[in-house]
Amino acid sequence: MMQRRDVLLASLFAPTGMAALATAAPSPRTAAAGLATLRAWEGGGEPSDEDFWGEVGRLFPVDRALVNLNNGGVHPTAGPALLAMERHLRTTQEAPAYTLWRELAPRKEGVRQALAQMAGVDAEEIAITRNASEALEILQLGFDLEPGDQVLATDQDYPRMLETFRQRERRDGIELVTFPIPTPVEDPAEVVRRYAAHITDRTRLILVSQVVFLTGQALPVREIAALGRARGIPVLVDGAHGFAHLPERIAELDVDYYATSLHKWLAAPQGTGLLYVRRDRIPGLWPLMAAPETSSSDVRKFEEIGTHPMAPVLAIAEALDLFHTLGAKRKHERLVHLRESWLAPVLEMGRGRARCLTPRDPAWSGALATLSIDGIDPVALSGHLWKEHRIFTVAVRHGTPTAGQSAELGFEGLRVTPSVYTRPMELERLVAALQKVLQHGLPA
Ligand SMILES: Cc1ncc(COP(=O)(O)O)c(C=O)c1O
Repeated sequence: MMQRRDVLLASLFAPTGMAALATAAPSPRTAAAGLATLRAWEGGGEPSDEDFWGEVGRLFPVDRALVNLNNGGVHPTAGPALLAMERHLRTTQEAPAYTLWRELAPRKEGVRQALAQMAGVDAEEIAITRNASEALEILQLGFDLEPGDQVLATDQDYPRMLETFRQRERRDGIELVTFPIPTPVEDPAEVVRRYAAHITDRTRLILVSQVVFLTGQALPVREIAALGRARGIPVLVDGAHGFAHLPERIAELDVDYYATSLHKWLAAPQGTGLLYVRRDRIPGLWPLMAAPETSSSDVRKFEEIGTHPMAPVLAIAEALDLFHTLGAKRKHERLVHLRESWLAPVLEMGRGRARCLTPRDPAWSGALATLSIDGIDPVALSGHLWKEHRIFTVAVRHGTPTAGQSAELGFEGLRVTPSVYTRPMELERLVAALQKVLQHGLPA
């Protein structure tokens, strides 16, 4: 039987040749003019203001010959960030030992400051990593654990992060304890109760996803962090799908450890991520790659990874600039608006057969939504949407879905993720395609 990750991967790799269709970055002048237009916008840029969001869309050099509705996997880089990256890449090549190490690397400090400002935390608490996986593994592998110690997670945490703890089981003799959560969550306090119920006197670390990758379900991270802190257990927040997507800043979550990719919702270049560690916790956490003892209290010890490109790192600044131009709240409202624009009609058409595994309440969700249709295999559906309609989505499967069984133990569905550059017409194509499937089923 296919594993959850395989299903995601199977769908992800189905449409071959996508890379060949990529289009060029906007010119510097077009990007600057686009940003200026957005900043000077007369109206409020409301969630349904298509003129405003049309301008936003023009900043993304995406290929409109296909409809990309898997922006959760990895996001297209915002045009202004792509331009900046190209510029820094050229500078790097001029004389790398000088331009990369001496000219560009020091500029990273400005990006650290800008990220800290956006997150509402101190720059000395931010490390820039290559992705969420790296930031999370610094946390997951950075604590000394003894045989018999337990680490706690839900069974809907990201597979690579669960695998990281499984490797520690084999290597260090620890025990990974996972438990199911309701899908969708009707009462967020129930999730906190389940974490509390699984804590024992052997629990040493807790992992929590800010947003569950399978469904887009947001979890009560603040309360779970408080629960851990009250018991002296570090809570590691996987913010891969929360950062720059949900409107809360890291500071508002009141957590000690937070990790995310920046190439998802911030639309920064691929290969960028962030680790936040509360200042007084830095000395107690080992880096993944060795750093001198003198840097024990310095957040930069987590960045001791040897020579690596600065171009994507420095271009994070331009992605942040676009993020601030949109505003966290306005961006989230637009994403919920886009999600509802396809989901509401499809659920209405599929009444009795179609169900949403994601909460519709914007307090607990954003752009991602997972749709389950009785009698329709989501892998086949995702393949059909690509083959017949050039609409790119991803199928998800969790546990062993069984008819009539609680979605808590197993479910499957089609995960659809628009983003700020998605056009309403593109979602109308999705609705029309799903309507046909609801009426006639999938072609044999
Ligand atoms: C919840 C979650 N955590 C971690 C990751 C890993 O992110 P990355 O591949 O950018 O390291 C992902 C990727 O989709 C994710 O969804």
